[in-house]
Amino acid sequence: MEPRWRPALAHLTPYDAGPPLERLEAELGRPVVRLSANENPLGPSPLALQAIRAEVERVHLYPDGGAVALREALATALGVTPGAILLGNGADELIGLLVRALVDPGDEVVIPRPAFEPYESAARQMGGAVVWSPLRDYRIDLEDLAGRVTPRTKLVFVGSPHNPTGTVVGRAAWEAFLGALPGEVVVLLDEAYRDFVETDDCPDGLEALARRPTLVVLRTFSKIAGLAGLRIGYAVGAPRVIETLGRLREPFNVNRLAQAAARAALGDVAHRERTRALVFEERRFLYGEFARRGLGWVPSEANFVVAVKSVAPRSPRQPLSAAGTRRGGVGPERNVKRSGAGARRERAGWGSRQAGERRRGGAPPGEPLAGAPRSVWSEGLTPPVGGPEGG
Ligand SMILES: Cc1ncc(COP(=O)(O)O)c(C=O)c1O
Repeated sequence: MEPRWRPALAHLTPYDAGPPLERLEAELGRPVVRLSANENPLGPSPLALQAIRAEVERVHLYPDGGAVALREALATALGVTPGAILLGNGADELIGLLVRALVDPGDEVVIPRPAFEPYESAARQMGGAVVWSPLRDYRIDLEDLAGRVTPRTKLVFVGSPHNPTGTVVGRAAWEAFLGALPGEVVVLLDEAYRDFVETDDCPDGLEALARRPTLVVLRTFSKIAGLAGLRIGYAVGAPRVIETLGRLREPFNVNRLAQAAARAALGDVAHRERTRALVFEERRFLYGEFARRGLGWVPSEANFVVAVKSVAPRSPRQPLSAAGTRRGGVGPERNVKRSGAGARRERAGWGSRQAGERRRGGAPPGEPLAGAPRSVWSEGLTPPVGGPEGG
């Protein structure tokens, strides 16, 4: 006898996280940098490590379910009240909570395409109808997104910087978008990569919160603080919204070590600034290397960069290093998409490139793909339904 599973489950497949990093390293006999996960190449904040060591003796005790001290510290840092913050077991958990709180079977969720995969799977888990909004020139098209909202739309996802392109939404487009959207439609603005933004033309999601009570801003300690393995992220929103979401969370959803580490990381300005400086430097390095290799790229405000080239198809797992790129410098995205026309996209990050390895001088950056033909993206790079973007 089969259990009477919810019908939505029939359309889901378990998330494929790829082989364990440690096993890959053992097989290859050398360190492996998993570029698809956009982790911090400097490692965790040293102050967070200290805090973890101090806290580790207390792991027999349940954590503070309300994460009071951390929420207070975050509230001070962000200029909001503690009641405006909900912590999660990674920002991932908060995506799921928001969707569970809003989406009944048949409700519509508007998602840019391609996008961070959990947006779609969370919606489908609830039986939601996913409405795709194609990117335009590698950017989220906010006008298109708003145009796809119907009376059945409960939630719209916006990433800025967006995963997988690293592009941000501009201030004017963001304001127009918020103005065009019915007030009861919830907007999730995912700012997981906000710390890596250099351009001024990028809204700070927190600034719009007072004007839009149905906006939820998502951030994480995974990237900038290097705490991805501890799983801790947070949502900021109107206290009523946050309180409602909190009804769905598990009592001890953020563990003791993660809370201690995140509090310490908040005060680790040196690690934060070193991480940002490295990412800024390496973005430029990659642009230069792509140019030297005749590749195009999408100017990125995140800690990864999309490169595009036209080549004969090859195995998705064949590393870029085979095309002449230094080991540990850039490498392939786990889920490389290939176009019918032979154009392909790879997402590159950076891992363990040593200072001594870095190319000095060298070719100046060539032309970015700011005005790339739409066809490259829409024909070649839109993933099939379920095509995952790494985290
Ligand atoms: C756009 C985006 N949002 C959210 C997350 C999830 O972050 P966390 O590690 O806090 O779950 C990621 C992780 O890669 C991401 O890329």
